[in-house]
Amino acid sequence: MKPKVLLTRSLPSSVLARLEAACDVDLFRGGGPVPRAEFLARVAGKEALLSMVTDTVDRAVIDAGTELRVIANVAVGYNNIDVAAARERGITVTNTPDVLTDATADFTMALMLAVTRRLGEGERMVRRGDWKGWAFDQLLGMQLRGKQLGIVGFGRIGRAVAARAAAFGMTVVHSLRSGEGLALDRLLATSDVVSLHVPLSPDTRHLIGQPELARMKRSAYLINTTRGLVVDEAALAWALKNRIISGAALDVYEREPEIHPDLLPLENVVLAPHLGSATTETRTAMADLAARNVVAVLSGEPPLTPVA
Ligand code: DGY
Repeated sequence: MKPKVLLTRSLPSSVLARLEAACDVDLFRGGGPVPRAEFLARVAGKEALLSMVTDTVDRAVIDAGTELRVIANVAVGYNNIDVAAARERGITVTNTPDVLTDATADFTMALMLAVTRRLGEGERMVRRGDWKGWAFDQLLGMQLRGKQLGIVGFGRIGRAVAARAAAFGMTVVHSLRSGEGLALDRLLATSDVVSLHVPLSPDTRHLIGQPELARMKRSAYLINTTRGLVVDEAALAWALKNRIISGAALDVYEREPEIHPDLLPLENVVLAPHLGSATTETRTAMADLAARNVVAVLSGEPPLTPVA
């Protein structure tokens, strides 16, 4: 008898085949997140759960999964999982670090360029039919060369963004909650672009709120590709509307897929639908790593990438 695995979304066929060779896979084919009651029912009797960032794997789910031995999140962030509850039960929790670093750092640069060069505004103007032709002072943005990028959280992705920004001629500073680097207040007050790369935790929830935004330069931009709850969205909408900062680019939101209604009408914010790691290569590598973690734990081997 193969061990039973619950898979909450479909994976690339090569990865699914690897999983199906070793496990009896119960795949939720609904497309969106598994409805709560169904999640609780389907996790029962499963030895492994392959979860996505959109799955809330809380104590109730973990309690319902009485046979669970491993929860493999197909994401580097794992704030959607109650890791403490899993640990109490001796369940291994794994994530997918490294394989998404380049894709997420690339996308951070894409957002940085989009907001500083007013790409969204320009595209909307063209699609509305309002473009009357080239103009000398049309949609002038900010050049990156010579500007300071402040990276908040200097892990794998933060460092990969730093390398890319250096190639664009930016000066890079960073701030770590351990105290390494610049103090956050100083970083906020001196940077032309601030990019957030801290994981979501009780310590980083609303790390950027009204006082922090007020500390930033009026000409500065904020980029968020980590988790929506790191930024107080209502405060950000206030800061953008009142030109306390120049612009923002967001890939993540407090209540995905809802967007704070005050952000939607603003021209100086770029709004992306959580695409940081969304390349075919990266999503395949993430799925593959998660599947290999499941197979390893179910075969009695150490997981490849357990969470700390
Ligand atoms: C992650 O890996 O944490 C991303 O947000 C999912 O793409």
